[in-house]
Amino acid sequence: MQFASQILSNVEIARDYWRIRLTAPREFAAATPGQFVMVRIGGGLDPLLRRPLAVFDLGTDETGGVAQVWFEMLYKVVGKGTAMLSTMRAGSAVDILGPLGTGFDMGGDDEEKLLVGGGIGLAPLYLLATELVRRKSPVHLFAGGRTRDDLLCLTDFERLSVKCHCATEDGSYGAKGFVTVALNRHLDALAGKATLYACGPDGMLHALAKIAAERKLPCQVSLEGYMACGVGACLGCVATGKNHSPQTPDYRCVCTEGPVFEASELQWGA
Ligand code: FES
Repeated sequence: MQFASQILSNVEIARDYWRIRLTAPREFAAATPGQFVMVRIGGGLDPLLRRPLAVFDLGTDETGGVAQVWFEMLYKVVGKGTAMLSTMRAGSAVDILGPLGTGFDMGGDDEEKLLVGGGIGLAPLYLLATELVRRKSPVHLFAGGRTRDDLLCLTDFERLSVKCHCATEDGSYGAKGFVTVALNRHLDALAGKATLYACGPDGMLHALAKIAAERKLPCQVSLEGYMACGVGACLGCVATGKNHSPQTPDYRCVCTEGPVFEASELQWGA
């Protein structure tokens, strides 16, 4: 659905990372973890395209007997559109298309849920963690980034009683290095079953797909591909499927078939 939304708050939570809360119609409350919205920033033609942003959190406030659905997103200021969004204040209107896409599969309740992300990739994992905790699954978060600034909203995850394992490449928070080291150590000691859920930079997803394949674990990845339309019309967002070859093209439309895919369904290159 497309709707005019009002900004409730828009706050910088770490250097260049922002958290924005917006109003939504009642039907938006049915959004599921891993889904995203397309945000149109500014009323003119520039910036022309909408920006895809994952739904980070979702809720309903009751004021004076009136229920108001809200949702939150995280974004990083990386260009003109997101810079413009960061200047918008509570009360401003934003045009939203969503919720869109196919989100995470919750899987069985008899297994550990290992969430892996960094930077803006932590955004879809929070709503996922909320739902998994509600289902009483054991949830661990493996958060990695270049610096402490890339580890967003850890206190929100901790408030859900999610066990957080952190790593930064510069050693400014948690273990020094890649978060996959802590993940591998955890998997070595794992007695039962587990499913991996991941969102983050390509290099991190590639490494996780490899770990999952070697250990024969299910692994759902949320791709943050470039999207222009968000509704399957432009094919500007395709990912390469596992059966792809020059003779038999196998492309997956990230915005409609994804953004969440089973890692083994995709081709990860050499
Ligand atoms: Fe246009 Fe996916 S963004 S088809």
